[in-house]
Amino acid sequence: MQPKEQLLARFAERSAVIGIVGLGYVGLPLALRFSEVGFRVLGIDIDAKKVEALNAGQSYIEHIKPAAIAAARGKSFEATADFARARGADALIICVPTPLDKHREPDLSFVIGTTEALVPHLRRGQVVSLESTTYPGTTEEELRPRIEAKGLRIGEDVFLVFSPEREDPGNEKFGTRSIPKVCGGSTASCLEVGTALYSGAIDTVVPVSSTRAAEMTKLLENIHRAVNIGLVNEMKIVADRMGIDIHEVIRAAATKPFGFVPYWPGPGLGGHCIPIDPFYLSWKAREYGVHTRFIELAGEINAGMPHWVIGKCVDALNERGRALKGSRVLVLGIAYKKNVDDMRESPAVELMELLAERGALVEYSDPHVPVFPRLRRGHFDLKSLTLTPQRLAGFDMVLLATNHDAFDYKLVLKHAKLIVDTRGVYLDPAPNVVKA
Ligand SMILES: NC(=O)c1ccc[n+]([C@@H]2O[C@H](COP(=O)([O-])OP(=O)(O)OC[C@H]3O[C@@H](n4cnc5c(N)ncnc54)[C@H](O)[C@@H]3O)[C@@H](O)[C@H]2O)c1
Repeated sequence: MQPKEQLLARFAERSAVIGIVGLGYVGLPLALRFSEVGFRVLGIDIDAKKVEALNAGQSYIEHIKPAAIAAARGKSFEATADFARARGADALIICVPTPLDKHREPDLSFVIGTTEALVPHLRRGQVVSLESTTYPGTTEEELRPRIEAKGLRIGEDVFLVFSPEREDPGNEKFGTRSIPKVCGGSTASCLEVGTALYSGAIDTVVPVSSTRAAEMTKLLENIHRAVNIGLVNEMKIVADRMGIDIHEVIRAAATKPFGFVPYWPGPGLGGHCIPIDPFYLSWKAREYGVHTRFIELAGEINAGMPHWVIGKCVDALNERGRALKGSRVLVLGIAYKKNVDDMRESPAVELMELLAERGALVEYSDPHVPVFPRLRRGHFDLKSLTLTPQRLAGFDMVLLATNHDAFDYKLVLKHAKLIVDTRGVYLDPAPNVVKA
């Protein structure tokens, strides 16, 4: 049988071995989903601690329960740090980070490093899928030549696709199975194999004409969010100057049954995607002589939000005869969004840094982040405080950065001397609440 027919048959029979490379927020849920539907799954990660934890049935991501990992282990899921094992997989799905470097340009070192680590172990009859968010052209320009250099023909020996991940940690309505999956292939055969691979585990696969179209689809989705969040953040600044509550306005506008989609302002952008991905497109667009003005403008507004919030904190304390310097500040919620433990690019970290730089004595409370983690940038040697009336009353200011459902907002309102609310939690005016 030819490689394509063989792969299609193995996916249809669920006898294929699915290799997932990079077992983070994206790779791990996907691995569990393939295991759930009966495939043998091999997880590959360079982090030996993660490999060890998974093989022991433990989780390192809050919303993925150890029971789900133990269940997969009991079936046919195994983790390894040994890239040579990739040879035994029929599919290799790459889910490694794509951050920005210190000049805010794409850092493809993880994608290229992973590809180069896999290539020596590739063989005829495999499909390689890149899921990491990246600029249009990455699959064709970076993966394809490296695979072809081994003498493997794309679309005949090995099949190459790009299929962007759409994971939304903490979303209870949509999960790996029910979120439609876009897929683009290097050739028509690649797309056919890629579609067959994902159809085995995901309800809806959306084919597009090329890997470039698939890469750009993911960027458009995230740019759409970044630009609209930038818009409401600018509206927040205008409304604040006019003495209007932007949250009240957005809630009212959202009652329009057509043509309006609510986006919510905040203290800045967070997470691994929205603050980063748009700049992958800006960078690539420059190669084509195009300047992405909406992306840059939204980036400028969103990046300025933590500074604007600090200005509101300074004013609020000043009104009460206090300086930020020497004030005790409790930051409420430090994960980048509500009800998750993900701290990547969290604007709360920048807020804490800006407060500390100005001489404030900063502590935090976040039930999802018991200990301040090691991050790429910014560190505080702190543990989460539990909220008590005495403790709340002991701070000069409570800065509400992330609106987790787990907080007792009535308790905070009753006992905090001053609350600076960046999330629109307190709609009704109160003498100790300042909206920011
Ligand atoms: N987190 C999300 O919600 C989300 C959503 C959509 C898309 N994405 C995209 O998916 C990609 C992965 O993101 P993530 O959130 O899963 O990242 P992550 O940091 O949670 O996980 C990446 C994993 O890859 C491993 N890794 C790093 N280098 C490796 C290598 N050379 N070989 C093997 N493993 C390696 C790391 O140890 C880690 O376990 C990124 O491109 C991101 O933009 C993320």
